Amino acid sequence: MPESNKPISLNGNLSHVQETIFSKMSALATKHEAVNLSQGFPDFPADPELLDRAKHYMEVGPHQYAPMPGDLGFRKALCNISESEFQSPYNAENEICITAGATQAIGTVLATAIREGDEVLVFSPAYDCYFPMIELYGGRPITIKLQHPDYSVDWEQVKRLISHRTKMIIINSPHNPSGRLWKDDDFRQLQEIVADSSILILADEVYEHLVFDPNQKRSVRQYPELRKRSFVVGSLGKTVHLTGWKIGYCLAPENMMREFKKVHQYFVFSINHPLQKALADYLPQANLVELGTVFKTKHDWLYKALKEETRFKPLVSEGTYFMLVDYSDLSQDSELAFAEKLTIDHGVASIPLSPFYRDPVDHKVLRLCFAKNDDTLKAALSKLAQV
Ligand SMILES: Cc1ncc(COP(=O)(O)O)c(C=O)c1O
Repeated sequence: MPESNKPISLNGNLSHVQETIFSKMSALATKHEAVNLSQGFPDFPADPELLDRAKHYMEVGPHQYAPMPGDLGFRKALCNISESEFQSPYNAENEICITAGATQAIGTVLATAIREGDEVLVFSPAYDCYFPMIELYGGRPITIKLQHPDYSVDWEQVKRLISHRTKMIIINSPHNPSGRLWKDDDFRQLQEIVADSSILILADEVYEHLVFDPNQKRSVRQYPELRKRSFVVGSLGKTVHLTGWKIGYCLAPENMMREFKKVHQYFVFSINHPLQKALADYLPQANLVELGTVFKTKHDWLYKALKEETRFKPLVSEGTYFMLVDYSDLSQDSELAFAEKLTIDHGVASIPLSPFYRDPVDHKVLRLCFAKNDDTLKAALSKLAQV
């Protein structure tokens, strides 16, 4: 058969997208053997109890497809946590679906909800998958800049940017990359704004349990006017320190979850079965409240050490395992150039903040991930002190 010269025609909605900054900085860290505080993953082991349960189910099974929405025991465990931590019960039968990480849940929500031309409000800096995923489904991201340096919301701007085309608002608290939390007033403002509309909410709450002050732990689930229109997304990668398992979930009222599952069943159908069983056994006895304390201790140590022993200016973080640092006293290089220099010349890998924005922004800020062993953090600190 003669070879065809016809050009290959693909969707093209993401032709402008390049390798993510996380892959880029991690590869640079490996190449230069730098202490890696770039990508958001822990360098300490998971709880042996959970690994034992995983080994057990790897030996005895189940090794065949899990039920499409996920293992029922696992779904029940997650719904129970939502009730105990956020006083917001979901029905394990029809208001939750287990996904291949939070990323797949986010993609599936957008595929379920977004049509060509729909506008989606996104607060930036933002986790990197929101913008391209909205565009993949023909949506139009509308950016709302959080106010540097406390990354608070300008609610007047939100009101101005809402139009009859606004289909969805994506919110993320605890927030990656700033580590800041939405306060009660933020949720109330949003509640008031959407009350008489059919605007949907995608609440990315993957750091839901990584909050330093338990009294500040809040979820969109606790606000009735928001809950009834929200897809809430969580990640076991963050909660049990196993990002490589790629297991997440989505909670939503039954009418919304029904539509979500119609898409989910064709995207992935179902998720790793033995690991869901292991998590179903493990979660009811896991101490999730302690997570906030563990990361607070690391945060407080790093914040003080950076302030006292380096010329970096740390910004306060209230949750997640990220801390932003201002390097404007050290250099006027762009964020990307400085992050590369820090990795290559000083042996510490970080993430520049500018790739979390759509428009060019350069506040001379880097993100550090402190979900690391104390020895790793001390090694990074002694290198940062030399800069
Ligand atoms: C805000 C936010 N959302 C979603 C994700 C993706 O989570 P998962 O690894 O479960 O897909 C991450 C991971 O870093 C994140 O920081």
